[in-house]
Amino acid sequence: MSKFTRPKIALVGGGNIGGVLSQLAALKELGDVVMFDIVEDLPQGKQLDIVEASRVDGFDVKLEGSNDYACLEGADVVIVTAGLPRKPGMSRDDLLTTNANIIKTVGENIGKYCPEAHVIVISNPLDAMVTLLQEVSGIPASRVYGQAGVLDSSRFATFIAWELGVSVKDVNAMVLGGHGDTMVPLVRYANVNGVPVMEQLEKKYGNAAKAKEVMDAMVERTKKAGGEVVALLKKGSAFYSPASSAIQMAEAVLRDQKRVLAVCAQLNGEYGVSGYYVGVPCVLGKDGIEKIIEVDLNDEEQGMFDVSVNSVKGLVEDLKRLSFLK
Ligand code: APR
Repeated sequence: MSKFTRPKIALVGGGNIGGVLSQLAALKELGDVVMFDIVEDLPQGKQLDIVEASRVDGFDVKLEGSNDYACLEGADVVIVTAGLPRKPGMSRDDLLTTNANIIKTVGENIGKYCPEAHVIVISNPLDAMVTLLQEVSGIPASRVYGQAGVLDSSRFATFIAWELGVSVKDVNAMVLGGHGDTMVPLVRYANVNGVPVMEQLEKKYGNAAKAKEVMDAMVERTKKAGGEVVALLKKGSAFYSPASSAIQMAEAVLRDQKRVLAVCAQLNGEYGVSGYYVGVPCVLGKDGIEKIIEVDLNDEEQGMFDVSVNSVKGLVEDLKRLSFLK
């Protein structure tokens, strides 16, 4: 715990996601929030704007902005959104190199100023950026993890709720694997308060083929959901929902909630994978990833999971080829 009476949350990156992260953390009074960005005055301005609503919203925490990495000193939780989105004409390697350079510096400073912190990474390409940040920061993998699965699962649950005309609060749906087109929405386990979604779709449509067609469409929409938002926004990518998702993870840690969430976690033999970060259900509490839950997968699901793991391995190989990773 930090020297403050409240936990200290550090946000590295004060862009679109960073701003929503700060506001949500303040509204929930999760702790004092410091926002770091390399752009002069930006984090100071955003934090001032958010804190000036504290009387209206009734939150009582300290918000600060800084352009000095020393502000990370003693943070309990760091959420990383530093990085650039892909621009026209940029190759995948260009983006990987650009963001890897940023994450390398960020990771070194987190290791220097708050080695006891939990680190939640959001920057893309996610699986590669978490891997790099863990290695350069030297922080144990149980405390360095990525946000993707909470959002991907929430998107899947939202589409199911719309389709069945039920409250999204009653839908349980989980998405595993890497954060990309190969992610694996777990259809067989999706349920509404315990009742399988497929069973309900079959009843709704009266035949299995149509039910499968509807589910396949929801799975595809989930996989491409990030791109759907990008296409509509025209500028930038999703930021409200990634921020909400990371805040749920931070809250689970800071309040030791033992939430079972899909987290981009380093596997050590689970699911037959060692040393790679992949999205899997985890118990998240004060010690970070306290347990990785192994879901029984059938051959088809395991096959999709393996394809997803291979795409993560490809990204990690790229980072090795570009000399970012040992
Ligand atoms: N250190 C800190 N912040 C940095 C650095 C750095 N070295 N380099 C860039 N930034 C900052 C930018 O100044 C900007 O304010 O990161 C911020 C990124 O903000 P946005 O461009 O608004 O991006 P955002 O929508 O917040 O997404 C951030 O999360 O979901 C991913 O793909 C997304 O990688 C992107 C990241």
